[in-house]
Amino acid sequence: MSTTTTTMSTTSTTIPRDLDAFFSANRGRIERELFEFLRIPSVSARSEHDADTARAAEWLAASMRGVGLVTEILPTGGHPVVLGEWRGAGKGRPTILVYGHYDVQPAEPLDLWTTPPFEPTIRDGRVYARGSVDDKGQLFLHLKALEAHLVVRDALPVNVVVLAEGEEEVGSDHLGPFVEAHAERLRCDAVVISDSSMFAPGLPSILASLRGLAYFQLDVQGPASDLHSGSYGGAVVNPATALARIIATLHDADGRIAIPGFYDTVRAATSSTRAEFAALPFDDGAFLREVGAPALGGEAGYTTLERLWVRPTCEVNGLLSGYTGEGAKTVLPARAMAKVSCRLVPDQDPQVIGALMRAHVARVAPPGVTATVRELHGGRPWRAEPSGPVFDAARRALAAAFHREPVITGEGGSIPVVADFERTLGAPVLLLGFGLPGENAHAPDEWLSVENFELGMRAIATFWDELGRSHGAVG
Ligand code: BES
Ligand code: MN
Ligand code: MN
Repeated sequence: MSTTTTTMSTTSTTIPRDLDAFFSANRGRIERELFEFLRIPSVSARSEHDADTARAAEWLAASMRGVGLVTEILPTGGHPVVLGEWRGAGKGRPTILVYGHYDVQPAEPLDLWTTPPFEPTIRDGRVYARGSVDDKGQLFLHLKALEAHLVVRDALPVNVVVLAEGEEEVGSDHLGPFVEAHAERLRCDAVVISDSSMFAPGLPSILASLRGLAYFQLDVQGPASDLHSGSYGGAVVNPATALARIIATLHDADGRIAIPGFYDTVRAATSSTRAEFAALPFDDGAFLREVGAPALGGEAGYTTLERLWVRPTCEVNGLLSGYTGEGAKTVLPARAMAKVSCRLVPDQDPQVIGALMRAHVARVAPPGVTATVRELHGGRPWRAEPSGPVFDAARRALAAAFHREPVITGEGGSIPVVADFERTLGAPVLLLGFGLPGENAHAPDEWLSVENFELGMRAIATFWDELGRSHGAVG
């Protein structure tokens, strides 16, 4: 008995008395660990980084084990899934699945970074590094919130499964099948994801929609090889011009997409949704300054937030043809290529959009060239009613951490697996993001606000308490 007492009192001097004390006492260590994670260049798109991506999965698995999760690295057809479980709350309690991704976008162009992308650096209260906000930093803050509970209380009020994937930035092709194959093991009462941003600094936000994606490569082949543009030009169809003509048919003069059938299944935004958007603190002038373009433009008849959140798009992401080096070269290129992607809204289906795109390009391609459309990847759009006990717990937790009621927002980007989680697991998905506008995700000088990291970690820790309090309603 006396031994036990001694042990306990010794331990109690080292175990922080509450969650807040845990975060304060471990600040430096948490930052060091985050920096280690950020230093691994887990660029999923590049095969030369496959070993780094594998190393990021190993690092994450070790970190999750350290937190106290029973962790496995599970293979997929591509980069593996890291799965961690804590089921100590017992069968009668709800289970929450936390999702994030450990892969990052390519860091190029490297010369536009102020400090190297994989050498995390703090400047002006921001962690600059590729993956800081998207999504390593946000995934990691979840792990530390779990650690806080398991260290301070030796338990969590609910069962937790953490699923981290390594292919989000390349379309999550293997994750849908993975979720189906492991549906029993992944069965849960809700999914929580931090892979998005707050609407404004200091204003916590819960996402109610994401757009889907249908991504294509358009190839236009003309003559068998490049030709002298004087000897042949005028009598041979130029693939670059042909591609430009194809691209020009994608929209009409009002900025509407002119692919027949494209809008057939688009669900109109309700007047209440439009009113909610209009009530958000959004200013076209500030948005214009942020993007630095001479003027804004898009589909006629919609506001900027509607164009971003509830209307579909068709964008050229890249164009390649002919001579682009120094000076002039008189050449008629043999081929031209464009990367084109459509952001989709409910109830558009990426496969149907693919078929419409192929039919459209076949119809409008000028004679004299061969135009082909290849589908690179796709994801379904998602929209949800933000309500229910898990949502309420999140709302209370965010309000407590940020001292401000969260707003409900939409998002123009995509997280392909969200619709799969909902469809396959039948669980509601909650998107709580801690990024900020201007964070440069996918661009040079990506950053994560140190303050948001800290507050996000505390908000998520509080969220577990709030869930515990309302678990009867959740399960
Ligand atoms: N975290 C983003 C999704 C996102 C973007 C959320 C902007 C909130 C705001 C995610 O990592 C991402 O970049 N998704 C890709 C998906 C694609 C590669 C299939 C996207 O939206 O382009
Ligand atoms: Mn992301
Ligand atoms: Mn991303």
